[in-house]
Amino acid sequence: MLDARLGSAAKFVRQGAIFADIGTDHAHLPLFLLSEGRIERAVCSDINEGPLCSAEQNAAAAGLSEKIDFHLTDGALSLAGLGITDVAVCGMGGELIADIIDRAPWLRTRGVRLILQPMTRAGELRSYLGAAGFSVMAEDYSEAQGKYYVTVVAEYTGERRTLTETEAYLGREASVTDKNGAYFGYLSSLAVACRRRILGRRAGGRDTERDETILKELEKRLEGRTEYDG
Ligand SMILES: C[S@@+](CC[C@H](N)C(=O)[O-])C[C@H]1O[C@@H](n2cnc3c(N)ncnc32)[C@H](O)[C@@H]1O
Repeated sequence: MLDARLGSAAKFVRQGAIFADIGTDHAHLPLFLLSEGRIERAVCSDINEGPLCSAEQNAAAAGLSEKIDFHLTDGALSLAGLGITDVAVCGMGGELIADIIDRAPWLRTRGVRLILQPMTRAGELRSYLGAAGFSVMAEDYSEAQGKYYVTVVAEYTGERRTLTETEAYLGREASVTDKNGAYFGYLSSLAVACRRRILGRRAGGRDTERDETILKELEKRLEGRTEYDG
């Protein structure tokens, strides 16, 4: 069983995929996908020995070691040429995820699907993806242990886009696959933080225009909530 966060990533892995999990740690995601028969085989990588060992132990305990290649490596560069179709980079900061993608040119291949879960700085990741020619195909929101998470699904198209600050910070509403409770909970928590920032900046005599633009968009999206509540 996966928690809602990794479950949100799992939803986007295609049937029959050759799946890479970068920064795999415990390997929960590939083990779940293999046990469901969703993927053909998996490549698990981690920069640290300890997490990779724990992935190997969990795979052995599940009787799935034969279906997984383990790589002790930084990022995804050395995983080129393995026929990987779907790649997850989950549970890291948005800037580190962007850096891992940027250093692995083979990820800029049409048809290779990236499933990304930034724990922080999702805006930086979205801006990077747009500027580097990746299109966001979907965004999905989840809640686990009282925290909200976003999953960003992207693929290289070569079309470069410069995102507005609001687009980067919130993602495109049209990309959201399921306007569920986690999505609206996430927006509400951003709105609370945004209002606080505006008050703080006003008190300090600082410019609030950026936050006010973001808050306006948040309030517009939150108005849509009633449509989905019933
Ligand atoms: C918080 S864990 C996330 C584990 C799992 N992906 C998840 O979402 O539950 C982050 C993992 O990424 C690994 N990591 C950090 N930087 C990395 C890099 N540059 N390349 C590969 N793995 C990295 C860490 O060693 C750690 O095991």
